[in-house]
Amino acid sequence: MPITVESIDRVAGVIRSKIRNQPRIGLILGTGLGGLADAIRQPTIFPYSDLPGWPVSTVQGHAGRLVVGELDGQALLVMQGRIHYYEGYDMAQVTLPVRVMQRLGIEIMIVTNAAGAINPGFAPGDVMLITDHLNLAGMAGLNPLIGPNLDEFGPRFPDMSQAYDRLLCEMARKVAKEKKVVLHEGVYVGLSGPSFESPADLRFLRTAGADSVGMSTVPEVIVARHGGTRVLGFSGISNKANLDGNTVTSHEEVLASGSVIVPKLEMLIRGILRAL
Ligand code: HPA
Repeated sequence: MPITVESIDRVAGVIRSKIRNQPRIGLILGTGLGGLADAIRQPTIFPYSDLPGWPVSTVQGHAGRLVVGELDGQALLVMQGRIHYYEGYDMAQVTLPVRVMQRLGIEIMIVTNAAGAINPGFAPGDVMLITDHLNLAGMAGLNPLIGPNLDEFGPRFPDMSQAYDRLLCEMARKVAKEKKVVLHEGVYVGLSGPSFESPADLRFLRTAGADSVGMSTVPEVIVARHGGTRVLGFSGISNKANLDGNTVTSHEEVLASGSVIVPKLEMLIRGILRAL
């Protein structure tokens, strides 16, 4: 079902009526990465179930609440847990939170995800700066902008040539260097899930130029760019993708890697917040 501007504004109104500061930055926390929200000062917390029409996260590793507050001098809106297409929501529902952020006046969206490493140089616990994406789900007909265009947000055919903001990427590289965090770079491929990839899927994705693979992010980034929001993205590498068919991938493994990735992401993101 297409989402209307009225339904977006209904949610935005509920949030606006309860928060002190106008948030400038939206942060979406991926699987096992919710701990990043714990540093937020003076938080106003909205369980997703309290927000009208807001989809509820059903996946283990996603707290399912919106945390609005301050961190390193920036007013932030943090999704502690995201919504995925494979949970049974449609693409418009999956990306409703991004629309609400845009109506609340957010200028920058920072997205994080847990992802499998297709690039053989990556290991579990590593962090990858997303410099571009492969919208494989979109190519198969699952683009979040299908349906009537929301002209209030952006054009029918939005450009994606620089989906990941070059200045923000540069800032991330600088912070990584300063903090001595190893930061890989590469292309994230977004699939629908929920089954993990077969070895043949993965060999195909590698040939297509993907470095990390996951089940989220791309729809949110497309909607963010449609509405003119600048994007910065990170993949937390949770597991080696199983290109040879000799290793098994599990959700438990994805969750466990979060504890190694969160401190690195926190250093990077907080460094960027201070520099903005
Ligand atoms: N594949 C797809 N999605 C994922 C993976 C993976 O290996 N790891 C974490 N999310």
